[in-house]
Amino acid sequence: MKVLVTGGMGYIGSHTCVQMIEAGIEPIIIDNLCNAKEMVLDRIEMISGVAPAFYHGDIRDESVLDSIFTEHDIKAVIHFAGLKAVGESVAKPLEYYDNNVNGSLVLARSMRKAGVKNIIFSSSATVYGDPASVPITESFPTGATTNPYGRSKYMVEECLSDLFTSDPSWSITLLRYFNPVGAHPTGLMGEDPQGIPNNLMPYIAQVAVGRREKLSVYGNDYPTPDGTGVRDYIHVMDLADGHLAALTHVGLKSGLHIYNLGTGKGSSVLDMVEAFSQACGKGVAYEICPRRAGDIAECWANTEKAERELGWKATRSVKEMTEDTWRWQVANPQGY
Ligand code: NAD
Ligand code: UFG
Repeated sequence: MKVLVTGGMGYIGSHTCVQMIEAGIEPIIIDNLCNAKEMVLDRIEMISGVAPAFYHGDIRDESVLDSIFTEHDIKAVIHFAGLKAVGESVAKPLEYYDNNVNGSLVLARSMRKAGVKNIIFSSSATVYGDPASVPITESFPTGATTNPYGRSKYMVEECLSDLFTSDPSWSITLLRYFNPVGAHPTGLMGEDPQGIPNNLMPYIAQVAVGRREKLSVYGNDYPTPDGTGVRDYIHVMDLADGHLAALTHVGLKSGLHIYNLGTGKGSSVLDMVEAFSQACGKGVAYEICPRRAGDIAECWANTEKAERELGWKATRSVKEMTEDTWRWQVANPQGY
C-alpha cells in the first residue's frame, strides 16, 4: 500500500517512514526541505534498506500534488508538513497561516480531485490551550490557543472536520501529539533543530554535548511537585508506531477520528535534566530563569481512547528517550 507522507523528511515524519517500511507500507515523500536535509533519505535507507520515492516540492503547489496522485496509486495521506516554532509564529503569522492552513487546504483539494479521501493529520496538544485539569481527554474543549502556531493547528482541525461534515465518506484522523522526544535507537536519525532549540530536550542534549553553556529552566514557581513545568514526553518511535496503528485501525475507515498520542505520564523539567544526566554520565548545567510567556504549568494525556480503539500504547520509558537522544547527539553533534 502506498501512502503519501507530507513533511516526511522531518523529525517525526522520517521516523514514521522507517516504521512504515518495516510494516510493509510504501511511503511516498513530499517535502520542501525548509526544515530538513536531503541526507535524511540516506539515513532512512541505511536503517530500512529502502530509499522511498522523494519529491522535493511544496504542498502549496497543487500541480505537484496532482501529478503525484496521478503517478502513484495512493491510498492515504499522512500530513506532517508544516511550520512548528511557537515564537516564530508570533513574529510571522502570515507565513504560518499560509504554510499550515493554506497548505492543508491545497492538499485536501488535490486529494479530493484524486479521489483519495483518507488523511491523518499531525495536530497538537496545543489545541487544548491551558486545560482546566489533567489528564486531558479528547473531549476537552479546544480552540483557546495562545499563539498563531496553535491557532493554525486548531483551524486545520476545524477545516477538516467541516470537510467531513460535507462528505462523510472521508476518513479524517486528527492525532494530537504531546511532547515528542528521542531518536531512532541506531543513532542514525533524530531531531536536528536549526539555530537555538526552542524545545527542552534538544536544548539539554546540546548543553550535554558542549554546544551550549547551560539550560535556562523557565520558572520553578509553578504549582507542580518541584515547581517546574510538567509535560507528557513521548518517544518519537512510539509516536511513529501510533501513526501505523491509526492507519491500520481507522485510517481507511470513513469517520472523524480524534486521538491523543501521549504516554499518560508527566515529567518535570528537572526530572528530564536528571534523566539526561544519567544517560550521558555527567551533570547538565542549568539555571533557574523567569517563566516563559505563554507556558502552562502542566499537561499530560489521558491515553485510554487510543489504547481502546487503536490497540496502541506508548511503551518506551524516559530512560530510553534520553539514552536514544544522547546516542544520536554524540554521533551527530552538529545534526545531519
Ligand atoms: P519538522 O519541521 O521536523 O518536519 C516538518 C517537515 O515538513 C520538514 O521536513 C519541512 O521541511 C516540511 N515542510 C514544511 N512546510 C512544508 C511545505 N509547505 N511543503 C512541503 N514540506 C514542508 O517537524 P516535526 O517535529 O517532525 O513535526 C511534524 C508535524 O507534527 C508538524 O506539523 C508539527 O506541527 C506537528 N507537531 C510537532 C510537535 C513537536 O513537538 N515536534 C508537537 C505537536 C505537533
Ligand atoms: N523549557 C525550559 N527551558 C527550555 C525549553 C523549555 O525550561 O530551554 C521548559 C518549558 O518551560 C516547559 C517544558 O520545558 O515547561 C517543555 O517545553 P517545550 O518547549 O519543549 O515544549 P512545550 O510543551 O512548550 O511545547 C511543545 C511544542 C509545541 C506543542 C506542545 C504540545 O513546542 O509545538 O509541545 O504538543 F504544541
